[in-house]
Amino acid sequence: MLQGKHILLIISGGIAAFKALDLIRRLRERGVRVTPVMTAAAHEFVTPLSVSALCGTKVFTELFDLTSEAEMGHIELSRAADLVVVAPATANLMAKMAIGQADDLATTLLLATDKPVLIAPAMNVRMWDHPATQRNLATLRGDGILICGPNDGDMACGEFGPGRMAEPLEIVAAIDAAFGGGPLQGKHVLVTSGPTHEPIDPVRYIANRSSGAQGTAVARALLNLGARVTFVTGPATAPPPAGANVIAVETARQMRDAVHGALPADAAVFAAAVADWHVVGASDQKIKKTKGGLPTLQFGENPDILAEISQMGAGRPGLVVGFAAETEDVIAHATAKRARKRCDWIVANDVSPASGIMGGTENAVTVISDSGAETWPRMAKDAVARQLADRIAAALEPT
Ligand code: C5P
Repeated sequence: MLQGKHILLIISGGIAAFKALDLIRRLRERGVRVTPVMTAAAHEFVTPLSVSALCGTKVFTELFDLTSEAEMGHIELSRAADLVVVAPATANLMAKMAIGQADDLATTLLLATDKPVLIAPAMNVRMWDHPATQRNLATLRGDGILICGPNDGDMACGEFGPGRMAEPLEIVAAIDAAFGGGPLQGKHVLVTSGPTHEPIDPVRYIANRSSGAQGTAVARALLNLGARVTFVTGPATAPPPAGANVIAVETARQMRDAVHGALPADAAVFAAAVADWHVVGASDQKIKKTKGGLPTLQFGENPDILAEISQMGAGRPGLVVGFAAETEDVIAHATAKRARKRCDWIVANDVSPASGIMGGTENAVTVISDSGAETWPRMAKDAVARQLADRIAAALEPT
């Protein structure tokens, strides 16, 4: 799919710019022609000489450059490629794109182009989480800009969280998907993620501990392989993946309705940490502390969404994947859970406090399927997600 394509690669000024060099190499290996553009700030991180040598062509940097204009005007430059890729896309560049500012060559090309644009954001976690960046992201998404990443992880600035640029091979996969070539192109995958909140009264709730990090990473990895993803999420702390159809819910019963509403799907991944019970007759008003009296809560069972979908007969997704968070006898419990719920695969992990997995960045999973239990080495949640998405793609491939 990539052979013979032409990409205009805009490199903006962030520490992740060094990864753009590897991205160029990976694209060139696949027979892609890369025309590079660097912002002024990008020069602080990588040299035009390295970029030019890897691309085998000159680097465009200046808007008012007579030689470049004589060779190829900037409007022409913006349209000559099949796809414009911005990697890394800094918060500043995203902000300029969102308002349509054109004050240098990169932003002018982005405003002038008539080709699809894919960005790989990279920035400090607080900059990514800032309402201004999230607002800009929503605007860009609304403008049809394709977004790859960012990933969760350790950052060069010493902080941790979303903001790390997607890895070069993930960007290659996203580019492939943009050209209609991802292995999950045309497939619809449903992913549940995050906790559910079960109200006791308008201000209190019961819930499971879940950041939504693993479910979000799975959705992102599936999107990168070209899938159409419906992401049904409880109130998670991880921001939802760019590019997914996000359905935000609060309770397990709402999640169940949203899941049924999102079908049919080719595959469904149930990564949500759904509360097993809800409070029967939750109060409309805040329950008051009364002297000597403690409130009594009556629990009702929540629907087991995974079991319901696994056993639904007609309309069942071709592949149903559950997660099993266990604190002891992980494989035995997860194997029994898979048989009880009748899902195809269970991704089991140890969430005992000693494992540090709950709320952490890494995961150590065992995938249980018809072919037995396969334990994967401990790795970043993003890497688990990528590996799982590859497995899903292989399983959905027509035989
Ligand atoms: O039974 P347990 O909660 O351990 O099962 C975990 C798996 O079942 C996860 O995939 C979770 O998303 C799913 N689940 C569900 N609905 C529930 C409880 C769990 O979909 N009510």
